[in-house]
Amino acid sequence: MKIGILTSGGDAPGMNAAIRAVVRTALYRGAEVFGIKRGFSGLLSGDIVPLGSMSVADILHRGGTILQSARCLEFKTPEGQAKAKQQLENLGLNGLVIIGGDGSFRGAQILNKMGFQTVGIPGTIDNDIGCTDYSIGFDTAVNTVLDAMNKIRDTASSHNRIYVIEVMGKNAGFIAVAAGLTGGAEAVLIPEVHYDLEAIATQIIKNIERGKSHSILLVAEGLFGDPNSFEHSSAFKVGNYISLRTGTDTRITILGHLQRGGTPTFFDRKIATLMGAKAVELLLNGETEKMVGFTQNQIQVYDLDDAIGSKKTVSAHELELVSIMANI
Ligand code: F6P
Repeated sequence: MKIGILTSGGDAPGMNAAIRAVVRTALYRGAEVFGIKRGFSGLLSGDIVPLGSMSVADILHRGGTILQSARCLEFKTPEGQAKAKQQLENLGLNGLVIIGGDGSFRGAQILNKMGFQTVGIPGTIDNDIGCTDYSIGFDTAVNTVLDAMNKIRDTASSHNRIYVIEVMGKNAGFIAVAAGLTGGAEAVLIPEVHYDLEAIATQIIKNIERGKSHSILLVAEGLFGDPNSFEHSSAFKVGNYISLRTGTDTRITILGHLQRGGTPTFFDRKIATLMGAKAVELLLNGETEKMVGFTQNQIQVYDLDDAIGSKKTVSAHELELVSIMANI
C-alpha cells in the first residue's frame, strides 16, 4: 500500500510526532509513505516527497510541521477537487492521512465521496473538534499560556495592576477556559457564554477592597467576532472598559502565534504517536471516512461525519470553578 500524509490548516505542536508515527508504523507494516507539502496546495501542485525512516528522525521534539501547512482556496472548487483526485491516482496512492482541524476534515470528506480512502487525525491548538477530548497541540498551547500567566502575575502583583490577556481559539473558548482554570484567572471571557463586563468590573473592585490588588482576565480572541480582524481585538475592548470602570492601572497582552510554536509536551507527543499508529492501522484494514479520537482516556475511532457534525462545548462547570476559585 502507498499512503500519503498531509498537514493542513494552522500548524500545531505535536504534528511532527504524528507524522513520525505514521511513517514508522507504515514502514513496519510493509507500506510506503509519501509526504504531501503545504496541505491541499501541495497535493494540487504535485509537491510530494517519499518519506523513509530517517526523514522523520529528530522531529519528535520540534513544533510546527515538517510537511508545512497552508489554506488552499483552489481545493474548494470542483475543478480543484477533480485535480486532487487525479494527482492521487497519478501518484498511485491508495490512502491518505490528513492531520488538521475541521476545514481539513471537510477536505478529507470530499476525497472520500470521490472514492478515495482517507483517515483524519485531529491537530489544532483550538481543541474545537468533535468526537475527541483532545486534539494535538492543545496541551502545549495551554502550557504556553500558563507560562505567560505566571510571568505576568509576577509583574501584576508588583504593580497592583489588572492584566487582560488575549488567547487564541478561533471562535471557541477551550484554550481560555483550560488556562483560566489552571492558571488562576480572575475571569475568563469566551464567545460561547454570555459575559457581563459590568459584573466583572464590580467583582474586581470588591476584590481590591478585600485586599486582592491585582487581577488577570483571560479573553478569547473570538469574543467580538472574527478573531483575525484587528477591529475585533478582544483585549483592547475589554481592557478599555475595565480600566475606565475600575479606575485601576490596566495593561493588555495578546499572546498570538506564540501559542502555536514550541516543543510539544509529553501529552501531545503521546496522543500524536498513538493517533498516528492507529490511523495507519485503519487504512491498512481498509477503513475510510474515519477520525482517530482520544476520549475516556483512550484512542477511539469515529466516523468523520460525526466528528465534523458534532459540536463540542466548553465545560460550564469548569467556567464556574474559575470564578469560585478566584473570587471567594
Ligand atoms: O486554528 C488555529 C489558530 O491558531 C486559531 O487559534 C487562530 O484564530 C488562527 O489559527 C490564526 O490563523 P493564522 O495563522 O492564519 O493567522
